[in-house]
Amino acid sequence: MFDASTLIWLVSCMLLPVINSLDNGLARTPPMGWMDWERFRCNIDCKNDPDNCIGEKLLMDTADRMAADGYRDAGYRYVSIDDCWMAKQRDANGKLQADPERFPRGMKFLADYMHNKSLLLGIYEDFGTRTCGGYPGSEFFLSDDAQTFADWGVDMLKLDGCNADKTDMSVGYPTMGFFLNKTGRPILYSCSWPAYTGSGAKTDYKLIAKSCNMWRNYADVEDSWASIYGIIQYYGKNPDNFAAVAGPGNWNDPDQLIIGDFGLSWEQQRVQMGMWAIMASPLFMSVDLRTIKPESRDLLLNKRVIAINQDPLGVQGSRLYQLGKVEVWTKPLQKKSYALAVLNGDNKGTPTKMTLTFGETRFDFNGVYAYNVTEAFDGKPLGIFSAKEKLQVTINPTGIFLAVAVPVPKKDLEHLWNK
Ligand SMILES: *[C@@H]1O[C@H](CO)[C@@H](O)[C@H](O)[C@H]1NC(C)=O
Ligand SMILES: *[C@@H]1O[C@H](CO)[C@@H](O)[C@H](O)[C@H]1NC(C)=O
Ligand SMILES: *[C@@H]1O[C@H](CO)[C@@H](O)[C@H](O)[C@H]1NC(C)=O
Repeated sequence: MFDASTLIWLVSCMLLPVINSLDNGLARTPPMGWMDWERFRCNIDCKNDPDNCIGEKLLMDTADRMAADGYRDAGYRYVSIDDCWMAKQRDANGKLQADPERFPRGMKFLADYMHNKSLLLGIYEDFGTRTCGGYPGSEFFLSDDAQTFADWGVDMLKLDGCNADKTDMSVGYPTMGFFLNKTGRPILYSCSWPAYTGSGAKTDYKLIAKSCNMWRNYADVEDSWASIYGIIQYYGKNPDNFAAVAGPGNWNDPDQLIIGDFGLSWEQQRVQMGMWAIMASPLFMSVDLRTIKPESRDLLLNKRVIAINQDPLGVQGSRLYQLGKVEVWTKPLQKKSYALAVLNGDNKGTPTKMTLTFGETRFDFNGVYAYNVTEAFDGKPLGIFSAKEKLQVTINPTGIFLAVAVPVPKKDLEHLWNK
């Protein structure tokens, strides 16, 4: 059937796959969904707080809202449970089990419920002996637990790093990735590895990207501006050049969206949405979708801002420069376009004015005469700009200006000039 050289070629293709990054076909754009942790934490009191405890009601209510209120159709598809879902002990066969009172119908039922609504189920475990909340960890059970999740129909695993030896992680996390792969079920793999090994030591992000679809690398998000701003500053500094490994299949994860919760002003909610878009971050809402205010919902559903985040090129945006507390970020998009953000970190009472020259934004003017610039939140056209033309923007305190710039073909410009 095959001649010898074809055979050798075929065999070497099978033996020598140079694996540069994880290839499970998932997360080609930043994953989107909902995660219970930041808003609902480890609330296990279903007797006194049945609507807000970590149990099947909260997850099913959330799935209902995601399907009915436009979130799923905007791209938010994972409904992800964080810590505190388990029974305190494994079962007699050593298998993980959901808390029987809070999840009376078990995890397979919940996965079916999600799938019936074209949603996906995410689950949580920990690489160490116990989870951060003290539930059974996966250490010594990696293979069994991967199979349990696959049997339940789970679509995503967040693997935390509490109660574990940091030095084991560079072997342990890839091992769990191997077992997830072996189940044959595509399971998005979210790692917490660099968040635990990162401080001080140099982090090998290329190695992490070989095993994980996304990974946390900084402190947990809290419901405050200080938290959001701190995360943005870390991503602006970009230690160990972690931005460089982001791309289809692999994403840096600055943690959940807290839009619609209690701690952010309206301007600050726009900052989180805009900056998470520029940073090509996974978008996991952590908010009560049953009671969210309409303006926060509309912000989470903003199509133009989501399109920046979900751009198929998958480049993580970076900070170009800072002028005091004002910082300019850009993200290259497909079709030689760009997203541009100007963030005002200052909390002084009055808005800041700034004049931008597109030549300074490192837009590629090679073969491009001008860019057509549109404000991203409301879609307002701002005009057509050559490299030298100036755009004046006004940015509110702890606020953001966000725009998309699309190259204008020369023929369209001539048409405009001839008007
Ligand atoms: C999912 O849909 C199937 C087919 O309609 C149905 O039989 C099953 O009960 C549903 N499962 C859940 C958990 O909603
Ligand atoms: C397992 O890994 C191989 C090689 O990277 C990949 O082609 C395959 O899609 C993966 N399967 C799953 C289920 O992740
Ligand atoms: C510029 O973009 C706006 C949308 O913001 C669009 O309406 C307009 O047609 C574009 N102009 C050119 C010349 O491409």
